[in-house]
Amino acid sequence: MTKPIIILGGGGHAKVLIDILRRLNCRLVGIVDPNQSVGSVLHGLNVLGADNAVFNYSAAEVELINGVGSLPKDKGLRASLFNTFNDKSYHFKTLVDPTAFIAADVELSDGVQVMAGVIIQAGTKIAENSIVNSGAIIEHDCRIGRHVHIAPGAVLSGTVEVGDYVHIGTGAKIIQSISIGAGSIIGAGSVVTQDIACSQIVYPPRSKIKSIER
Ligand SMILES: CC(C)(COP(=O)(O)OP(=O)(O)OC[C@H]1O[C@@H](n2cnc3c(N)ncnc32)[C@H](O)[C@@H]1OP(=O)(O)O)[C@@H](O)C(=O)NCCC(=O)NCCS
Repeated sequence: MTKPIIILGGGGHAKVLIDILRRLNCRLVGIVDPNQSVGSVLHGLNVLGADNAVFNYSAAEVELINGVGSLPKDKGLRASLFNTFNDKSYHFKTLVDPTAFIAADVELSDGVQVMAGVIIQAGTKIAENSIVNSGAIIEHDCRIGRHVHIAPGAVLSGTVEVGDYVHIGTGAKIIQSISIGAGSIIGAGSVVTQDIACSQIVYPPRSKIKSIER
């Protein structure tokens, strides 16, 4: 029997995760969120308090879901929450939407979240607290680091290596055997055909916009 679950954060990413958890019939204790008042109801769940309300439950009796999403230039709240509670022996549940296809030998570490319609092929390994967002495709034998966000619809061809804290933007495409250094950001819609060093931003060509004259 799985343990009851507390969700950290009550924003849009949390809302999607709660929907998955409900479809999996998980037992949900409530949400912790410093921006909501204790006792209010959010996404149909009780707000238990700020983050430290987790400590009203022992690490043995609950599991956590990191409901804080991640954007390319945010301040790393998602990673710091994971590290804080992980250091105190709380376990982050690995969550896979039932509509995702995950090959049999894929390895997903603690706290990895795989959203609707994702495909992850054989031999791929994904490290702690990373998100594979809706409709993304990760081909065979990829290595994905910790605290990575692979945004909706991104495609990683086979044997791609992605460092820690990387953001791969919506709809970006990475050809086979590319390496992306830690902390880099791949802009939405980019096509990456060469290795990317650490802490780089990749900008794709911008769409041309013209007014329609009728
Ligand atoms: C790449 C990215 C991080 C750039 O952010 P930034 O450095 O703050 O860039 P800015 O918004 O200041 O834009 C700088 C310039 O690059 C252009 N640009 C930015 N992102 C672009 C993109 N993805 N494609 C094409 N052009 C882009 C901007 O139009 C702007 O052009 P200008 O100087 O001619 O006006 C961001 O645009 C992006 O693609 N983020 C990914 C979003 C995502 O994946 N969301 C998923 C949420 S689930």
